[in-house]
Amino acid sequence: MIAITGASGHLGQLTLSRLIEKLPAGNLVAIVRNPEKLEGYKGSDMAIKTADYEDTAALVKALDGVETLLQISSSTSGAVATQQESNVVRAAAAAGVRHIVYTSTLSPGPDAIFLAGQTCMATEQAIKNHGFTFTFFRNSMYFETIPLFIGSAVKDGQIYYPGGNGKISFVSREDIAEALAVVLTEPDRHHDVEYRVTGEEAFSFEDLATLLKSEKGLNAAYHDLPEDAFVAELGKAGMPQDEIDFTVSMAASIRAGEFAAVDDQLEKLLERRRRGLSMYIEEL
Ligand SMILES: NC(=O)c1ccc[n+]([C@@H]2O[C@H](COP(=O)([O-])OP(=O)(O)OC[C@H]3O[C@@H](n4cnc5c(N)ncnc54)[C@H](OP(=O)(O)O)[C@@H]3O)[C@@H](O)[C@H]2O)c1
Repeated sequence: MIAITGASGHLGQLTLSRLIEKLPAGNLVAIVRNPEKLEGYKGSDMAIKTADYEDTAALVKALDGVETLLQISSSTSGAVATQQESNVVRAAAAAGVRHIVYTSTLSPGPDAIFLAGQTCMATEQAIKNHGFTFTFFRNSMYFETIPLFIGSAVKDGQIYYPGGNGKISFVSREDIAEALAVVLTEPDRHHDVEYRVTGEEAFSFEDLATLLKSEKGLNAAYHDLPEDAFVAELGKAGMPQDEIDFTVSMAASIRAGEFAAVDDQLEKLLERRRRGLSMYIEEL
């Protein structure tokens, strides 16, 4: 039996649809906090179980009989995220799960500049400490984060972001889901490995502006925003302080190169070339 936490999210749903192409739905357990989000699966043999990351007892119950777990990282940040992810790991141990596939970030570490990198490191370590076999997907940034970074530049071409010359090896979320389904259906071939999951190339914000010119015909330019101006803008937009800290850490992490690595591991898992960024930008 294979279970997925965060199954109602973008990556979770994409992975479910890939798994259903490979396995009987009766072999799958979707763990969600809001089952209505998986209405479309009503009537299928897939089990939909309700458990919040805050509720360890419910997680243990939901994981009963599960051998392989796709643990999708928490969508919150800081100590709350670290606690939620630790709850999932402890529940998996209590339920007798054997293998955890965990969606980490490209450069996790106790001193990672990106705050999520610290959470992911703590969770990777907890998974190892509990003695599970594991596969870590150290994901670079999704293509799908680009609209969040560049905002109205999709229309007017003007990118304002404190990214310096930092590069990002953007990767398609659909490609990640397909590769997760490969690993989840053959976990024995992927024991105790950390995969760096990236696109074929890394792009700076200057490069993104060039793509907006070539793919969308926009009169595009990148304006490297000073960090204090960025913080002031986020504050003006009413963002809570913890989210500002998280968002600023992401920009600092990009400037420092924590998202710049490129690896061919994803291509090997997919046994085909990865989706390219220019087509994604063209379709924005
Ligand atoms: N690499 C990247 O570029 C990137 C970008 C964004 C996020 N991420 C990370 O990758 C993960 C997956 O990405 P995604 O695009 O699928 O994110 P997403 O669409 O936001 O999905 C997050 C999932 O987590 C669930 N969730 C949130 N809080 C929960 C809680 N307290 N208890 C149980 N479930 C909870 C959500 O449930 P609901 O459907 O009920 O909200 C949803 O199913 C994210 O959670 C985040 O850690 C990576």
